[in-house]
Order: sequence, then C-alpha cells, then structure tokens
Amino acid sequence: MKKGFSTYWIDTFGCQMNVNDSERSAGLLRHAGLVPASSRNQSDLVLIHTCAVREKAEKKLFSLLGRLRLSKTNHPGMNIIVGGCVAQLHGRSLLDRAPQIDAVIGTHCIHRIPDVLKRLGGETGEKIVDVSRYDRDLFSMPPSLIAHTSTVRAYVTVMEGCSHVCSYCVVPRTRGPERCRPYNEIVAEVEQLIRRGFQEVMFLGQMVNAYRWGKKDLADLLDHVAAIPKLRRLRFTSNHPTHITTKLAEVMRDHANICPQIHLPVQSGSDRILKSMRRGYTSKDYIEKVALLRRIVPDIAVTSDIIVGYPGETEDDFSETMRLLNEVRFDGLFSFLYSSRPGTLAQTFNDDVPLTTKRRRLNELNGWQQACQRARHREFIGTQESVLVDQVNSKGQLCGRTKHLRIVHFHGTESFIGKTVSVEIVDAGANSLTGRWVEGVAPH
Ligand code: SAH
Ligand code: SF4
Ligand code: F3S
Repeated sequence: MKKGFSTYWIDTFGCQMNVNDSERSAGLLRHAGLVPASSRNQSDLVLIHTCAVREKAEKKLFSLLGRLRLSKTNHPGMNIIVGGCVAQLHGRSLLDRAPQIDAVIGTHCIHRIPDVLKRLGGETGEKIVDVSRYDRDLFSMPPSLIAHTSTVRAYVTVMEGCSHVCSYCVVPRTRGPERCRPYNEIVAEVEQLIRRGFQEVMFLGQMVNAYRWGKKDLADLLDHVAAIPKLRRLRFTSNHPTHITTKLAEVMRDHANICPQIHLPVQSGSDRILKSMRRGYTSKDYIEKVALLRRIVPDIAVTSDIIVGYPGETEDDFSETMRLLNEVRFDGLFSFLYSSRPGTLAQTFNDDVPLTTKRRRLNELNGWQQACQRARHREFIGTQESVLVDQVNSKGQLCGRTKHLRIVHFHGTESFIGKTVSVEIVDAGANSLTGRWVEGVAPH
C-alpha cells in the first residue's frame, strides 16, 4: 500500500443494494490493508456510493463533494472515489463537474476496487473512470471478505439490475438488465453466514421475486435456504406484483423462519397512471395479489411505495390512489414526489403537476397513512412479540424488529443484541412500538 494511503471512509446513499455494495467494498479495502478512518475529513480514501433514483438523491452527492473540496485542501493525501448509480449514469462527465473526484467506478466494477487503489494516488495524478458493464465477475467476491455492517442481519444480493421498463425509473440504466446469481453460490453464502452467527438473512434484488436459475425460482431458493438449520429469519426485497405466485406464498406459509412480511411497490392506484408508468398491472390486479398473499399467509405485513405527482396525475387519479390505500391498508408506506430522471420515457412527458400540488398530495397521503399505522400499532398493546435485537438506540434503549419488521424499543442489556427475546408491547406510535422485556423463550 502506498505511503500515506491507509484509511478509508464510505458514505452510502440509496437503497439496500448500495448498503450491500458498501459492505463488499469495505471488505475489499480492508483486505488491501486499509483501516476505517475516525473521520471523513482525515480519511485517505473517501468512497461515496451514490443514488440516482430521484434528483434530490443526486443532489446529495454534489453537496457532499462541495464539502469534500475543502477537506481535500486541508488533507492533500485524500482520494475521492464516486461509485454507485450516479457514477454509472454520468461516468466521465462527473470529473468535469467536480474535479476533486479522483475516480469514478460504476455499479458493476466494485470487485475491481483493488486495481483502482493500485492506480490511485500516483505521481501523474491520473484520474480513473471504470463504468464498464456486463462483467462476468460481478458476483465473484468471496463472501468471507464482506464487511457486514450488522452482526445480526446480513444482506445477500441474489440478483443485479432490472429488465422492467417502468417509464419513470432510471434503475435499469444504472444497474443494467437483470442478472441472477448462481443458486449454489447463494446457498453456500447463507451457510457460511449462519456458521458465522448471523441470525437473519435478507435477499436483495431490484426485482427479487423475478429470480431464476435454470428451472428454479425464488420460491425454490427460499424453500431450500429456510431449511438450513439454525437460520432464524429469512426475508427478501423488493418485489414486483407481476411475479407474486401462489407457490411463493405457500413457501412463506410453510416455513416459520420466512418472515410474514413483504415489500410490494404499487406506485399508484389509478389504472390510467399505472398504464402510463408501464407497470404491467391494474389496481384490481394488485389488490388481487395482496388478497392471494393474505389468504395463504393471513398475518402477512404488506408495505409499499407510491409516487405522487407523476406527469398528468389529476385529482381523480390521486383519489384512486387514496382509495387503494384505504382498501389495502398497508403496514408501512414509502411515498415520493415524482422526479424526472435522465433517459427515462417519462422525461419526455410534461412534468405538469405543480410542486405545491405534489406536496399537498404527499402530505395528505402521509397523514392518512400515519393515522392508519398508529391505529394498527395500538392493537398490539398488551400482546407479546418476539423481537430480534439489532442495536442500542441513541436514547440507550434496545431496538429490534418483529418478524413483521415492526420496530420495537425496550430497556434491556447489550447482551441481548443478536438474540430473539419476548417483549410485551406497552405503547405504540405510527412508526414503532415500545415494550417491556418478559422472561421466557421467544419463537421467531
Ligand atoms: N425495484 C424496486 C424499486 C426501486 S426504486 C421496485 O420496483 O420495486 C424505489 C422506489 O423509488 C420505487 O418503488 C418508486 O416508488 C420510487 N421511484 C423510482 N423512480 C422514481 C422517480 N423518478 N420519481 C419518484 N420516485 C421514484
Ligand atoms: Fe425501476 Fe420498475 Fe425496475 Fe423497479 S421494476 S427498478 S421501478 S424499472
Ligand atoms: Fe438508488 Fe441505485 Fe438503489 S438509483 S435506489 S441506489 S439501485
């Protein structure tokens, strides 16, 4: 390793795919001899995993780069690498916009970080741009190298990219078309994680339920992995309604360790908007998929994503969305203001919903959803939940998740971290539950 080039700092924006990419990158950096820096300003290497899904996410990169320009003046040994979806989307042009960047590496090049390191910081001040795609070695990193952020829950990427063509979405451009990871490699990684003491595994993919390997699909993979002894909890995200099958729901029902919880983005309740979005289903189709899941897994928690203010969205379209929310009653919801993205089909449409209208719709939707969640959560008061403890929160309380992914705070000792304990729910808000530890064996 070059002299004066020994510490790293990683900033992660965006989704869990980026979190997992950061964990993989951290593993490679450690393997190359670097150690985590105590502060970003003092770090020799700053790696930023960026998100391009909305303009606001992209802006975060540029505000951070602005701050880093000063840090670099104070600490001239600093090298800045921009990775992730903005890197893939804009490539070399980022260097013109922000000359403080030393390297741009795309979403398919993480495994080449060690090569980038060797070339960085040389006398010539060479800038590196590596945004090539379709690399065979995309999934090839040895799992033992991954520097997991949690000691309890491990993310396992099972597929990369997306081959859907949603009109508004930049992800197929930043992550490329769908590529699935070999079935046996995934099984081997999970086996290793369990041996290392991880309690929970979450399979990741932009369209995880489109997973295919030969004749096997996600339901087969879950069925296989859930049967591995000592795996306490198994989850998978994110799902597309089109690929929800009876077989998938039945596998969830048949394994107590597959958590009864699903993230199933709907985006809108208006068929006109769904058609323009090219989602491939109607609101009725979506409601039927949720009904199928609830029939087979009655207590399943369903969460979703909604975009408000999509081009041409009228008050009537928005009312349809509110109607869908009212009918489905989601356990959680992520809602976003529509943001026009480069190279998407919707970018050619007129972004005609005024910002004030977008914001009003978002507030209305969030207000309704929060009330709905609060009412639902209050039903848990007095019940007992099994909580897998993740961490101590900022108030010194323990924080964990139920198998339905509900957040629970309660008092206890740090020795509970990584354990599943019984907690009696004593209070509830819209976004979390508060409980009291009770002695005894907790199931899942
Ligand atoms: N692959 C996942 C979601 C990926 S992006 C899926 O399809 O399920 C996460 C969420 O961001 C999407 O579900 C959508 O609600 C939101 N999103 C994507 N593009 C957007 C845009 N241009 N403007 C606003 N929100 C967007
Ligand atoms: Fe984007 Fe649609 Fe693919 Fe999700 S399914 S990543 S919203 S293109
Ligand atoms: Fe963002 Fe890329 Fe994930 S655009 S949402 S980090 S796939």
